[in-house]
Amino acid sequence: MRTLVIWISLGLIGLALAQSEDKGKNLFQQRCAACHKLEQKLIGPPLAGISQRREKSWFAQFVLNSQALIQAGDKAAVEVYEAYNKQVMPPHPDLSQEDIEALWAYLNVSTSASTSGPVASAAASSASAEEKAIKYPGEVRPLSQEEAGFLRQTFWLLVAMTVGVTLLLGLAIHVVSTRRRSSS
Ligand code: HEC
Repeated sequence: MRTLVIWISLGLIGLALAQSEDKGKNLFQQRCAACHKLEQKLIGPPLAGISQRREKSWFAQFVLNSQALIQAGDKAAVEVYEAYNKQVMPPHPDLSQEDIEALWAYLNVSTSASTSGPVASAAASSASAEEKAIKYPGEVRPLSQEEAGFLRQTFWLLVAMTVGVTLLLGLAIHVVSTRRRSSS
């Protein structure tokens, strides 16, 4: 019976993790994907690995209300605004702290796989190329963010399924053995 409890907790933890990952992805697709892609320019800049060029607090302010930041004269915000022809990114004041965290986590899952930004120096990028070669021996290229996300989701789905099956089996065995015991 104690193992049953352990399995249930493990399953719940797995589901919770899979869900928080999904949350960022869903939010991104609903609220940002019309203008942003992960690895390429669309209407706005690509956002994969945003932590390499921006602070989390800056990201939060920009997403909540980019115009406020631009009008306050924030250098980075004005620069990116001008680089994108002064297109106004709509504010998202209804996003909670948690939503921002989920988006941030989603955008920065596989920073080592994302392309090095213009800020990265030559030395840093060659170092990260070496790192990749060590990390992924025999692999032609590192996983893209979508692939990594897909693999992670499949993994958690498998975990959840295994736990489900184990639970059912455990329950069945439990029921059968208590019946046997009470009938004999
Ligand atoms: C209507 C189009 C549009 C939508 C929707 C949109 N953005 Fe943007 N975003 C832009 C544009 C255009 C820029 C370039 C800066 C500017 O013009 O203000 C930008 C810039 C950014 C930047 C700054 C990037 C950098 O390199 O500094 C971040 C971060 C960002 N967006 C995040 C988001 C997130 C997160 C969402 C969803 C919650 C989102 N955006 C939704 C159009 C959009």
